[in-house]
Amino acid sequence: MTEADAPTLRPRRARLSRRTRILLIVGGAVALVLALVAGLLIATSLAQQAAADERRAAAKAVTEARSALDDAVRRIDAATGSLDEAITAADAGLAVAGPGLDDAARPALQGARDDAAEVREAEAEAEGEGMYGDQIVAQPDDDDATASTLRRQAELYADDSTSATKRAERIEGAVEDLETAIAAYLTAAQTAGEALLAERADAADDVRAALQAQLDTLPDAEPAVLADTLAAYRSAVDAVIASSDAARTPATPGGTGVRVSDPTSLTAVVNKRRGLAADYVPPGLVTPSGIPGATQVRQELLGPLESMRAAMAAEGITLRMSSAYRSFARQQTIYNGFVAREGVAGADTHSARPGNSEHQTGLAVDLDDGTGCNLARCFADTAGGRWLAANSWKYGFILRYGDGWQPIVGYTYEPWHFRYVGVDVATDMHERGIRTLEEYFGLPAAPDYG
Ligand code: DAL
Ligand code: ZN
Repeated sequence: MTEADAPTLRPRRARLSRRTRILLIVGGAVALVLALVAGLLIATSLAQQAAADERRAAAKAVTEARSALDDAVRRIDAATGSLDEAITAADAGLAVAGPGLDDAARPALQGARDDAAEVREAEAEAEGEGMYGDQIVAQPDDDDATASTLRRQAELYADDSTSATKRAERIEGAVEDLETAIAAYLTAAQTAGEALLAERADAADDVRAALQAQLDTLPDAEPAVLADTLAAYRSAVDAVIASSDAARTPATPGGTGVRVSDPTSLTAVVNKRRGLAADYVPPGLVTPSGIPGATQVRQELLGPLESMRAAMAAEGITLRMSSAYRSFARQQTIYNGFVAREGVAGADTHSARPGNSEHQTGLAVDLDDGTGCNLARCFADTAGGRWLAANSWKYGFILRYGDGWQPIVGYTYEPWHFRYVGVDVATDMHERGIRTLEEYFGLPAAPDYG
């Protein structure tokens, strides 16, 4: 091999290597640039994405804060409306006063009403001071608004929302306090009404029932209808008082119905349709001796009573007396006592109203035989009860309130109540089988007070 031959392979290898290197260098540089550009683009895109996300989140925060603020403002409006209604209801309720409405509870309701009015005035002032949500630095739909200004806006709305919520809570608290005071007042009124019902037990049954119905509605009354509820309650109270006063003080001075023209007559008929003057006192009242329990009777009864006592004694029966003459005032006390226990309708079945009792004539007596059953139906089955039913006519007495005679005489069966009419009338009634004085004298039946 010559020297000239030696380099023939080397240059080829050197040239290829350089080109490759250049290519590699250029390619690498291009790749690097491309990578840098791509990296830059990706980084820029990511940054833009993050900024957009942040802005979207801030805009969402603004929207949510605004919505919360709107809710709080609506809450203020609703609470203010309720407060106005409660104050109006309390005022109308306080305007209703009088018996049965508790005087002690009224100041508490008045105080709660005044407190509520103060809160309402403060609210009116606050309303005048400006609107919530009027500080605007950015809005979600404003393209130029940055995330940070949007965040600031959300904070402004949130501050307003907090303040509005506090206001709403204060007003709602006032509403609750006033409604609680109204409920307490209604409860106190109910208690006062119950006491009045007990005290006025002599009032008519229907007005008492009407008041009880009103009392039952009080605890559930809504403030909006407070005045109507209390007004209805008051009128029921008034009706009970009026009815009770009427029972205590009869409008007419004496019994109801036709005034008995000659109450001194031994055959005077006194019933629910025929009354006596309140000041009528029979002449010649005396107290029989020898008859246990006896009280005053007309002196015309002394002889017949003594004869009857003796006849009964001959058969081993004692004649006792529970009651005889009763004044108008005494009858009033007795009648009112029954009304207190049973109501007017119940009392009227067996107790005469003052001025309409036969006992005021001094001609009626309540008898028994001392065996333990007096002023009761069981007396009919005693020896004394049977004897009197069969024989009292012979001495001038009649059974006045027989079993089943209520449609005519007005009272249930009283086997103990006998009325002196004189031997002639009693005998005639016995012989003709006429049971009642109303039928005997052709007078109207007296089942009630007409
Ligand atoms: N018990 C009778 C009816 C009266 O009260 O006169
Ligand atoms: Zn009687």
